[in-house]
Amino acid sequence: MSAVIRPSSGAEFARILSIAGYTPSRMVDNHEMTNYIETSDEWIQQRTGIIERRWVGEGEDLEQMSFAAGKLAIERSGIAAADIDAVIVATVSYFHQTPSLAAILAHKLGTNGAAAFDISAACAGFCYGVAQADALVRSGGARYVLVIGSEELSRMTNLNDRGTAFIFADGAGAAVIGPSETNGIGPVVWGSDGGQAGAIYQTADWPTAVENADWPYLGMNGRDVFKWATGFIAEAAKATLEAAGVSPEDLDAFIPHQANNRITDALLRSLKLPEHVVVARTIKTLGNNSAASVPMAMDAVLASGEARSGQTALIIGFGAGLVYAGQVVTLP
Ligand SMILES: CC(C)(COP(=O)(O)OP(=O)(O)OC[C@H]1O[C@@H](n2cnc3c(N)ncnc32)[C@H](O)[C@@H]1OP(=O)(O)O)[C@@H](O)C(=O)NCCC(=O)NCCS
Repeated sequence: MSAVIRPSSGAEFARILSIAGYTPSRMVDNHEMTNYIETSDEWIQQRTGIIERRWVGEGEDLEQMSFAAGKLAIERSGIAAADIDAVIVATVSYFHQTPSLAAILAHKLGTNGAAAFDISAACAGFCYGVAQADALVRSGGARYVLVIGSEELSRMTNLNDRGTAFIFADGAGAAVIGPSETNGIGPVVWGSDGGQAGAIYQTADWPTAVENADWPYLGMNGRDVFKWATGFIAEAAKATLEAAGVSPEDLDAFIPHQANNRITDALLRSLKLPEHVVVARTIKTLGNNSAASVPMAMDAVLASGEARSGQTALIIGFGAGLVYAGQVVTLP
């Protein structure tokens, strides 16, 4: 017999209730980079916009950064930790295959046994998490969701590789997403192109790395990534605005993944954003910290007063996979 199964039902709308970032303590400027690779401050700034980046220092690691960002996001949301129903951690630099970092954090942050899982969507990870949280809140799978984007890429960066050493960085950002009277998260525009899996990748799988005593680093074909990001991603960003029914004139802030300032410039040219739109440029001082970059940049533009709560922002993440995801959101 086929029983009638009750469907789940949730809030009509969701929004980002709070945002928080954690900036690791060790500042690594471009001059320090010249100790590792043949490069210059001028070249790095001109090619990427990076002046300095942050790496974990004494007493800091991926779990600690994720916890700190998650705790602050919960405090800022005004929601009790016990009311968080799901914890999603987006990262590619957690060195334990299992259990998930999300499960450990759900416990340590004091949730009441929240559903917890990690996602691997590289620099798009936070936006993937926002899409999942939005769907969970509106479907009834969860009322409040904590999404954390965090990376310790310094641990996966080959300091002798001229193509990557200067770009990658560490950090964590987190958001609480919950029900709302009005809609605060537009339709996600997302996808993947595994045909370009070789554009950004881990240089060896774990068994091979152990066998050959060869640490698995991040590898990158910078030119391929640049081409994809300035072409395909520019179109995806336009499609994200269209899906939300928001015009460039309606936007207050543009918070793209902090991959490279030249990529951000190209996206801006393509989107033809008006002058008044605040553009996140945290890559200058934070470097490219993958899943942490969008939430840290959102936190930064709000903390600096450049953008305000209630304003409208376009967020878009893109990276290894290749994968991407974008949404128009109301700033918390
Ligand atoms: C990584 C990136 C900055 C490299 O710049 P590029 O112009 O493609 O670099 P190339 O490898 O073609 O080299 C160009 C020149 O710079 C030099 N160069 C390369 N790496 C260098 C470095 N680290 N320091 C100084 N010079 C460097 C090369 O020797 C070459 O010199 P030449 O013209 O005299 O032969 C660029 O490809 C890029 O921004 N890609 C996107 C990467 C990205 O955003 N990744 C994150 C995605 S999540």
